[in-house]
Amino acid sequence: MSMKLPFFNNKKINKNEEPELDNIPKHVAIIMDGNGRWAKNRGLPRVAGHKEGMDVVKKVAKTAANCHVEILTLYAFSTENWSRPKSEVDYLLRLPKEFLHIYLPELIENNVKIKTIGNFDVLPEHTKEAVNYAKEKTKDNDGLILNFALNYGSRFEIIQAVKQIISDMNTSGLTMDKLDEHLFSEYLYTTGLTEPDLLIRTSGEQRLSNFLLWQIAYSEFWFTDVLWPDFTEETFMQALYDFQQRKRRYGGL
Ligand code: IPE
Ligand code: IPE
Ligand code: MG
Repeated sequence: MSMKLPFFNNKKINKNEEPELDNIPKHVAIIMDGNGRWAKNRGLPRVAGHKEGMDVVKKVAKTAANCHVEILTLYAFSTENWSRPKSEVDYLLRLPKEFLHIYLPELIENNVKIKTIGNFDVLPEHTKEAVNYAKEKTKDNDGLILNFALNYGSRFEIIQAVKQIISDMNTSGLTMDKLDEHLFSEYLYTTGLTEPDLLIRTSGEQRLSNFLLWQIAYSEFWFTDVLWPDFTEETFMQALYDFQQRKRRYGGL
């Protein structure tokens, strides 16, 4: 079903147009899943699905920016994805470079700021170089934050936060009484970002796969059977529309 957001009046979205926006999630996080199955359904190698999925990233980023979403966090590679065959891991870790090679000029033109979360240091040099270049080039942009979770695992993130906190207690005068939820969250990769308002997962799976466990405490979840390479502007708009109908109570009434 294709459902347009009411404020777009069934018009095709034009990037130069200022839509009337109401209750748009500030931060949308997406578990982009189903690339392998998409490829398998077509008798193609799994990596063909990853390649197709890369172009969807750009389309969704553009739609998010048009809708005035402020942060789009995309799960691109998990700490558990290293367990896949080496050829697939290598391909997945080459994709950021390929993506940025094709789309960075357009992202810059659209005032997008590139960020990453995850254990960056152990990524291949070519991946780090391409991503660092894009971060540097977009650091002063104040449009959509396009945040890639690259070699990201929530449990690893929490453990490294705890280690850093203990180290700061030993060396920088941090004391137990200062440690609260707010301070703890500053030790996570997502420091400086608001928490996701909406979490989307594609491909029919309804699990978190170690994604943003701390940060999604009060996020709205939205699942679709659509495989990531088939995800469209309309699917994204449907998720935003459904989000707008939700009542967030945060434990209150
Ligand atoms: C998502 O697609 C991309 C990554 C996890 C990197 P998958 O590769 O997990 O595709 P399926 O789930 O096997 O279909
Ligand atoms: C989650 O998808 C990771 C990414 C989308 C990068 P997976 O396909 O790796 O998750 P599982 O194995 O189905 O839980
Ligand atoms: Mg998967």
